[in-house]
Amino acid sequence: MQNVRAKQTNWTPHLILAVVLAAFGGLLFGHDTGVISGALLYLKTQFNLNSTLQESVTSTVLVGAVVGAAVGGPMADRIGRRKTIIAFGIIFCIGSAWTAASFATWWLFIGRFIVGFAIGGASLIAPLYISEISPKHLRGGLVSFNQVAITLGILLAYLIDYGFGTASSTWGWRGMFAAGIIPAVILAGGMFFMPESPRFLVEHGKNDQARDVVGRVRGESREAAESDVEDIRKRVRTKGTIADLIRPELRVALLVGVGLAVFQQITGINTIIYYSPTILQKVGTVGKSPLAAILGGAEITAVNFLATFVAVLFVDRVGRRVLLIGGMGVMAAALTALGFALVVPGVLTSYPWIVVALLMVYIIGFAIGLGPVFWLLIAEIYPTYIRGTSMSISTIANWAANLLVSVTFLTAVGALGQAGTFWMFAGITLVAIAFAWVFVPETKNMSLEQIEDMWQQRAGVSESEDGSGGAAAA
Ligand code: BGC
Repeated sequence: MQNVRAKQTNWTPHLILAVVLAAFGGLLFGHDTGVISGALLYLKTQFNLNSTLQESVTSTVLVGAVVGAAVGGPMADRIGRRKTIIAFGIIFCIGSAWTAASFATWWLFIGRFIVGFAIGGASLIAPLYISEISPKHLRGGLVSFNQVAITLGILLAYLIDYGFGTASSTWGWRGMFAAGIIPAVILAGGMFFMPESPRFLVEHGKNDQARDVVGRVRGESREAAESDVEDIRKRVRTKGTIADLIRPELRVALLVGVGLAVFQQITGINTIIYYSPTILQKVGTVGKSPLAAILGGAEITAVNFLATFVAVLFVDRVGRRVLLIGGMGVMAAALTALGFALVVPGVLTSYPWIVVALLMVYIIGFAIGLGPVFWLLIAEIYPTYIRGTSMSISTIANWAANLLVSVTFLTAVGALGQAGTFWMFAGITLVAIAFAWVFVPETKNMSLEQIEDMWQQRAGVSESEDGSGGAAAA
């Protein structure tokens, strides 16, 4: 192949800029989900929120995210990836400004719904865009970079909450929400200057433009870009519908996307993230005040953020399956041990650091596997002609499962106890490992087009109607 060499370099300023800007979608996802834990400490006095209303403020974001996820994918398939990101960036601005200006509880709820809507859309469109512009041998790391941005967003939310909380206990919460406007403006404004995804362009017959984008973003020669675009073009089909997803070759892809979406949440990540500060306070590594609780959250999230770099660095070398299955193994072991640490008398009081260490180990397991690899896989396992819509279905499942866990967690702790709840999460993680072992394909170093062909071959379906061969695009 004449373009092999060009395909192995591919770090261009255009690529880096496009990935970093799209990852502001991840940053906003993280900031706007994380901001509430600090803000609530002040909102409850400002608006007189009882515990039911406090929980509802948190759940409203998740409901909004389910709706945003349902809208974002089909929109990306129809109007394009770039315009969809810009639209969601604008919605983030409106939602953050609206929430910061809240003067009544109903106003606050509407603001949090709008922000949730934007989070749901951004959570799928950022990985989708990055996946489609990246060269295949860098795709895993670049899409996982979005998860780095998510965790950085949560970390910044804690730090910003801390800063505004220290500055004022009456208006500080307004600053916490308003801070989200800055990255939203960068996302919407910056993406205005970025190219559309070459895959979307080819789907819409704009082959010349697609070739220019591939050449520029991947630093390829005209011939190499031509051959990449040709590989994409060979698989162009008329627009797909949801019914296509139950075709034999796509059924397993759908199962993998939805299954991992649900497992990513029902293995407990968000309960651990938000419960950890309480544990850290209990075992005395942070103080007892609200501000100390915020700092405790920051500690856990800092570990999450740093450990995600392992996935970025290794996912294109060791592959998706190793990190996913290995990471979940670490999670299951940590959860099992956590349960024992809580029931064996004296551990919590005499060796509190064991509990803290096990929480960190669990987070590291998530950060190197299920966290980034779920978002990466759903951005690569579906065919281009229906990628946005299919990602929507997986992402709806993810946010719905997140909502389900958040509303049932306290009941689970009441019924099973803390240790029992950790063991339940450990059991679910073992099922998730078996699921991944059986169904999740290895997609390392494969072009998105080769992944499409792989499903067809596995299902024994003959090559696409237009007789595409299965050559590799980047
Ligand atoms: C998950 C979120 C989670 C975050 C934490 C994301 O991949 O979808 O639910 O809060 O990771 O790192």
